Parts: sequence; C-alpha cells; structure tokens
Amino acid sequence: MKLREASALKQGEGAFNLSNYEEVSKQFSWDTIHPQFSWHRTNKVNMAYECIDRHVEDGYGEKIALIYMNGHFKETHTFSNLKKKTDEWGYLLKSQGVKKGDRVFVFLPKHPDCYIAVLAAIKIGAIVGPLFEAFMEEAIFDRMYDCEASVLITNEELLQRVPVSKLPHLQSIYITDNIEHPIAKSIPKLVEEVSVNGEIVEWVDLNDGMIIHYTSGSTGKPKGVLHAHRVMIQQYQTGQWVLDLKEDDVYWCTAHPGWVTGSSYGIFAPWLNRATIVVHGGRFDAKEWFEVLERTGVTVWYSAPTAFRLLMDKSDLIPDYSFSLRHILSVGEPLNPEVITWGVEKLNLQIHDTWWMTETGAQLIVNLPSAKIKPGSMGRPIPGIKAAIIDEEGNTVHPYELGLLAIKKGWPSMMKEIWKNEEKYHSYFVGDWYISGDLAYMDEEGYIFFQGRNDDMINSSGERIGPFEVESKLIEHQAVLEAAVIGKPDRVRGEIVKAFIVLAEGYEETEELKKEIQTFVRNKLSAHAMPREIEILRELPKTQISGKILRRALREDKDVDRGTDTVDGGTGPTSVA
Ligand code: PRX
Repeated sequence: MKLREASALKQGEGAFNLSNYEEVSKQFSWDTIHPQFSWHRTNKVNMAYECIDRHVEDGYGEKIALIYMNGHFKETHTFSNLKKKTDEWGYLLKSQGVKKGDRVFVFLPKHPDCYIAVLAAIKIGAIVGPLFEAFMEEAIFDRMYDCEASVLITNEELLQRVPVSKLPHLQSIYITDNIEHPIAKSIPKLVEEVSVNGEIVEWVDLNDGMIIHYTSGSTGKPKGVLHAHRVMIQQYQTGQWVLDLKEDDVYWCTAHPGWVTGSSYGIFAPWLNRATIVVHGGRFDAKEWFEVLERTGVTVWYSAPTAFRLLMDKSDLIPDYSFSLRHILSVGEPLNPEVITWGVEKLNLQIHDTWWMTETGAQLIVNLPSAKIKPGSMGRPIPGIKAAIIDEEGNTVHPYELGLLAIKKGWPSMMKEIWKNEEKYHSYFVGDWYISGDLAYMDEEGYIFFQGRNDDMINSSGERIGPFEVESKLIEHQAVLEAAVIGKPDRVRGEIVKAFIVLAEGYEETEELKKEIQTFVRNKLSAHAMPREIEILRELPKTQISGKILRRALREDKDVDRGTDTVDGGTGPTSVA
C-alpha cells in the first residue's frame, strides 16, 4: 500500500508571508498544515517516514541529510543511506518482537547512530526515550524504571552506567559496537545477518505516543513528558517560519537529542523540511565549534545563551574563520542584550530568541526572522498561538504588569500526557490556560519579557534542574544530614546549582569533603546537576508550620544560620568548581 502521493509535502507549500505578522496571526489555522502530511490521505502517519523516507520517494535520496564532525573526523549520510539504516534497525527490532507503544530507550552520544536509533524506533511505532549522554546510573534508572522500558540501544561504554539488574522490564539490550558482548546484542552483527523485507513503517494515528523526555519540576522526581506524532505539524511549520529553513541550508542545532531542543529542533523540524543537519560529537570547545561552523558551512544555527557567552570569551579567534551563517537562534534561558550586541558586532547577525518548554513540544514565542527584535524580549507568539500574562485567578493583567505566562490550550505540539501521572498533567491547566511556571510581562505591542520562574526550578546552562532531585541525592551521602539547593546567578551559566548543607554529627567542614560530595552527585546523577558551590550551614531555614525548606530565604540570603562558632567569622560560600 502506498500511503501518500509523491511530492505531497513541498518546501514552502502552505507557507505564509510573515512580514505581515498581525494579518497572518488573524487568518492562520493549524488545519491548513494537515493536508501536507500522509495523514491527510490515509488517516495514518509516521514521523520517521515524514523525516526520511518521504524525501527518498520524492527524488532527494542523494541529498546530504547529516554531516557528522568529531575533532578532525567528518562523514556524511544521505537521505537514502538513513532510510536504509533506519529500515535495517527498525526491521531488526520488529523481528525481535518490539511492538507499537513499547518503550525503546536510546542512550548514545551525539553521533549518527543516535539519530538512526531514535528514528528506527519511531518508524516501527515504538515510543522512544532518548537519554542525555552525560546521565549517570541514578538518572538513567529513574527514567527507564518509571517508563518500564523494555529495550535499550546504547554502546559498550555507556552500557556500563546502566543498572541493568535493577530494571525488571528491560528485555533486550542492543549495542552499536561491532563486538561480542555477554549481555547485549551487537546491531552491526545482527544487521549482517538480516535481509529486510515487508513494510517497516508502522502507520499510526497523529495522537499515538512517539517520544518521551523526562523533565524536572520543582518537586519530586523528573516527570515523563510524552509527545505524539502530531508534533510534526508545528515542528514542520516553525522550521519554516522561525528557523527559516530553505532548500540549501546547512543547519546546526547544538543540543543532544536527550533534551527536547535536540529532538524537536535537532531532528524533526529540520528533516521535516529536508534540510541538511550538522551533528557535532564531543564536548564544548570554542575552537572546535568555530571549526564546525566553518568546515560544514552552517547557514542556520540554533544554540543557547550559555554557549554564546562562552564563545564571547573567545571572540579573538573569530577573525581566523570564514563563516556562511545567515540566521542564528537561541533557546533555553534568558538571552542577554549584550549577547545580541556581540552577535551583531562579531558575526554580523542578530541572534533571535525563542521560548518554549519540553511540555510545549515546539516553539511558541519567538522573534521571527523578518520582525523587529527588542533586546531583552523573547518575542511574540507565533501565528496559531495565543499567549497572555495572567494573575493567579486567570485574569489577563495590564501591559508591563508582571504575571504568569500562559498559553491558550489546543496547539498541535502540546504534550499528550505526563507518563502515568494524570494529576500532574492536569495541574498545568487553569481553565483554558496552560500555565508555564514562568513570570513575564508583555508590552503594548505584544512582545513578552521573561522575568524568572514562579517556583524553585533551576536553569543552569539552559538545563532544567529540579532542586528536589539534587537534594535527595545529597542526603544519601553519609556526611549530609540535610540539604537545600537553589540556583545562584552566574555570568556564564545563567545560574549555577548551589547547595546548602547541614553536616551529620562527627563531620567537619573541609574542602576535601565538599569535593567528595560534589563528585558523589556528579557520579550518581549527572555533571550538570552537581552543585558547583557548597555552603555548610548549622540549620536550614524552614516554614514554621510544615517544616518545608524555605529555598527563597536562601536565595535572598535571609534568616540563614551560618553559626557563630566557626573560625574566621563564618564559613561563607566556597566555589570549588
Ligand atoms: O524558564 C523557561 C526557560 O526554560 C524553561 C523550559 O525548560 P525546558 O523544558 O528544559 O525547555 C528548554 C528548551 C525548550 C522555561 O519554562 N526558557 C526556555 N526558553 C527561554 C527560557 N527562559 C528565558 N528565555 C527563553 N528564551
């Protein structure tokens, strides 16, 4: 059965001229996007098909889909090549009994294999759970256990961090290495043996589950945000409107697919629009990043303020390179006006801020390429999205008045559910409004200015960190009696994780002990959750009635009992990072 006619989805088809933002916002309806996907003709759809197979059918098989760079190593993959690989990996999973809706976790570094694994799982109708490559044992366990993952695709090195024996639902492990392994099956070896036959694509409904990202809240463990295949509608459209992707663009999103930016805008939006994507393996290194920009000829670049701030410090290197950039975007944390100025001065381009969340699945508030930028503002809602600043009762507040940033329910990429937690899902809504948890104000032209969070969540380098998760880990260390964690403002990272600790009896404050506690969190949870600063207190400030930790007092440095019996007049914060 052929599920869609060739060339149904063309570049620019259905695109609106956004130079008249107000007019388009009035007229636009998401329904106008539906006919562009196979779903319209058949009632069935599949994200992997729309991202890869469709382009091969339309005659773009030899187009470069992915450029991979790691140090001096560079390789390319065409859409045909990715179709073949996702078919092979998908067939293999299917032939081993993986079914629609099963949770397949992918724990791989930023490497083509990670992208192939994610799309192969989606192709056969599974729900994919991509894990950030820096996660350690506990972070991996929490996610895979909650999700009852039955399949894991990883490599030999990362498999060592997976607590396999504690995961009762895990049935099979596949590694991308070409070796024999005592507990894992080697994908390259299995692929040598299979000959793909039959249809690999599992045709699903727009509202069937597709990808799950765990994200931190201010309380409890990370929650599984499940997105359905319908996210494609908004990701495709914002790929055109916001990323401004054109036929010949080389596009680089610097996020790992374990974060929502790295999947929504690192895989889906660019490939739905048939762009060539760049994948850079390895850690952040300013010189290497400039090399990636030059050697792959990146034209559209999506990154985060922390990365831009780190690159600002290495601006003297820029004249050594020749870039092809024409559009730059930012997400994840407030974009400081001085970073925009830096972009204009050093790269000759304005950096366009965008705002959205794991839960929203795609961009909602943005600076469109053709619109005026007001530095300090995240921009305006895209057509099809209604945003407002409201008070606790749900009433819209006046321009410039601080309130809760809320979005009118009903956009295509809204999360499908919070995994096994209906109550949490419903807690996001007040009437027709989705409440983001961000505080903001709007000016009279509809530009929105981010002012902070309404809760205790920490945003360090654009990564969302729940204080509870770090505190729970800290108190597992035998020297820690009690712990409270806050975000402390930081020039480069936006915020850093700072921990206040009350030591257990018999422990003395020393630099070694603080370092040991930091390493403990880094090795058990992940590097980004590690408190870069630890301060020892005699007691934590708490509410009188319920005894809840008053993180706000710690942030504001009020009622903090540092004790009086310490040498040199108090312990004071010590940055050991
Ligand atoms: O506080 C806002 C901040 O990041 C939160 C969402 O985090 P996460 O789900 O990890 O998704 C990040 C990338 C989509 C938001 O509630 N945030 C995101 N974008 C911006 C931002 N804060 C300020 N400016 C932004 N552009």
